[in-house]
Formats: sequence, structure tokens, C-alpha cells
Amino acid sequence: MSDSRAIGVFDSGIGGLTVLSKLVEMFPNESFIYVADTLNCPYGVKSPDKIRNLVTKVTNFLLSKDVKAIVIACNTATANSMHLKDFVKIPVIGVIDPTAKYAYKHSKNKKIAVLATNATIDSNQYQMRLNKFRLFNRNKKYFVKCSEFVTAIEAMEIKTETSYKIVSDKIDFLKDKNIDTVILGCTHFGLYESEIREVLPNAKQVECGLPTGLYLKEVLEKNGLNADSKNDGVINLYTTGSPEEMKKQIKWFDKEYQNIVRIKL
Ligand code: DGL
Repeated sequence: MSDSRAIGVFDSGIGGLTVLSKLVEMFPNESFIYVADTLNCPYGVKSPDKIRNLVTKVTNFLLSKDVKAIVIACNTATANSMHLKDFVKIPVIGVIDPTAKYAYKHSKNKKIAVLATNATIDSNQYQMRLNKFRLFNRNKKYFVKCSEFVTAIEAMEIKTETSYKIVSDKIDFLKDKNIDTVILGCTHFGLYESEIREVLPNAKQVECGLPTGLYLKEVLEKNGLNADSKNDGVINLYTTGSPEEMKKQIKWFDKEYQNIVRIKL
């Protein structure tokens, strides 16, 4: 049994493309529809109600495209997506659970820092996941609100003097804490790999893409949703902002895509 329908993927902006990039490598036969809700970016400084409302709108758009599963390639949206189970009948995969588990498993000393948006940190979702492992009180973890990184990344401040400064101003205090794992708890932060490495050269950076992809694999298999192995996957990108602007912002995205179409939610 196979299913050639696309998988929907979304983020508030371009950050989720770091996840999509990984998914395309892991699932060459699958097609993807990606939505960047650029008009409403950043989500991370909005209220939970407002974020939930936006998450509903993007989800409804993807459902109208008859996707077979949805990957929420945004931690902030994942943290505010519990309501989707009330009306979405296809599998919905968030990034927080798989990423937290993966980071925990691969950390040797269990000194884990989480860098995420203000709304993700305020939602306590990472804290609760890591707390499940009963390490919360025994080991120090650091949860850092970094919404300003998102704005800088969307403004294409990547590997610039400004970006190195923004990152070091924010996380310099983690330097002497013997952190061995940093969770990039915002999908935009994969684009700050160098900036974060400059401050914490010995910490392993855990991005959401691989752990989420591994979980997606299980879900597709369990539900008989895999595309045919002869299928050549295609990528279609949608934005609520300007397609021309997005094209400039994603020069680093090295996967082939069909076009970028503007949508209104
Ligand atoms: N990329 C998103 C995340 O993973 C959020 C960025 C934002 O809109 O604040 O949290």
C-alpha cells in the first residue's frame, strides 16, 4: 500500500526549512507542501491564543491541499497545537517531543541547554519533557528565551558581526556551565550553528530535523502512508508574505523546489 499525497510542513517563517531540508534527505520519495506564515512572523512573542489561532489557519490551508500528514516545523506552534486533535484526523507531528527525547538520549552529562522563543520557553513544554526523565532537580538545565534571534535571522543577519554579537550577548553565561548539549528549540536556530558554536564550541547542537524525521518515519509506516518507492518527491512552497523576499531569504536552502506562491489565510 502506498500514498502519494504530499506531507504538509509549516513554520512561522523560513526556519522550518531547516527541518524540511532534513526531511527531503530522509524521504526522497515524498512530496512536501511547505507554508511560511511570514506575514505573522515572529510567533514567539505572541500570546498563546493568538498563536493557536494562526496554527488553526495554517492547518486548515494544508488540509485544503489534501495532505496526508502534517509536520509542525516550529516549536512555538507545536507548543500551541494541542487543540488540533479536536478536528484534524490525519497524523500531526510536532517537533518538541522527539527533539527533547533525542537530546536527552545523546547527552552524556545531562547538562542540557534549551534555546527557544519566548513563547516556547513560557509554555514549559521542554521543561516538562525533560522533567519526565526525573533529572530536573538533579541536574541543572538552562532554558533561554531567544526570540530576538528569530527577528535577526528573518532579516538575514546570519554569520554577520551583528549576529555573532546577538548570540554571544545572550548565551555567554552558559560558557562555564559544562553544557554538553544545546537543544535548538526553535527551527530558525539551525541557521545560527556557527554563532552558537563560537560561544559553546564543545556542546553538541541538537536540531529538530533529524529527531522529527525519525518519528515521522514510524508514523508513516504505522499508518501505511509511505509514498511509492518509485515516486520522485516534489516540493511546493507557500508564503503569506512576499515570494520575492522569501526567495532572497532562502538562498541557503539547497533543495529543488517548484515555486513560491503567495497565499492569504
Ligand atoms: N521557528 C519557530 C520555532 O521553532 C518560531 C519563530 C517565531 O516565529 O518566533 O519556534
